[in-house]
Amino acid sequence: MIFGAILAGGKGTRMGIDKPKQFLMLGNKPIIIHTIEKFLVCDRIDKVFVGVHPDWVDYTEDLIGRYIHTDKALSIVPGGKDRNGTIFNIVDQIESEYGENDSHIIVTHDSVRPFVTLRIIEENIDAALQYGACDTVVNAVDTIVASDDGNMISEIPDRRTMFQGQTPQSFNMSLLKKMYLDLNDGEKEILTDACKICVVRDIPVKLVRGETSNIKITTIDDMKIAKAMI
Ligand code: CTP
Repeated sequence: MIFGAILAGGKGTRMGIDKPKQFLMLGNKPIIIHTIEKFLVCDRIDKVFVGVHPDWVDYTEDLIGRYIHTDKALSIVPGGKDRNGTIFNIVDQIESEYGENDSHIIVTHDSVRPFVTLRIIEENIDAALQYGACDTVVNAVDTIVASDDGNMISEIPDRRTMFQGQTPQSFNMSLLKKMYLDLNDGEKEILTDACKICVVRDIPVKLVRGETSNIKITTIDDMKIAKAMI
């Protein structure tokens, strides 16, 4: 089966407002509702799980009741202490509902990327089915400058080999779980990106082309851009 996992367990501290940024209004509905809707229109997804900070579960239930009318299965799961923690709370919930199965696919996506397209979601599903893991990326437009100490340049990699990571990131669920359970506590703290877990374990990760419009809303400036886009 194929599952959507919308990650909304963060508190949006960089936005500097009184509620997590995924609940801000964008046009006529909250950001998180735009994002959930993108997953609901994908026929290949059997059920959508939304991982929400435990303090905001009731609030999210209320929002979903108000804005979303769907026959598709949709559930809220309490989020974890970091992004991967939220993913694995959703994995646990999927396994408690559907059992462990080597063919389950999970499409994980930031709740604060409301402009994801159906094409990107579909290509994630295809790539996860074929390769076991995939990441959504766009070509780096700026030259990437690496600095080990944040003071002096240590390297300027060839821009043609540089990409910027977006989401969704999609996985064969049992492969992802096996790798995560294999990490020690120190590694879990450093490997905040689920695809990075694959990379350090030498698991191939296929690239899916994203869109420059698939922005992550992090700051007030991003919010202004998102409002202009909508
Ligand atoms: N996220 C999550 N669970 C966490 C932390 C983050 O599901 N424990 C989600 C966020 O809700 C967001 C996505 O991961 O949709 C990307 O994270 P980020 O943009 O860093 O969001 P926040 O952690 O909310 O922001 P900040 O770092 O400014 O606090």
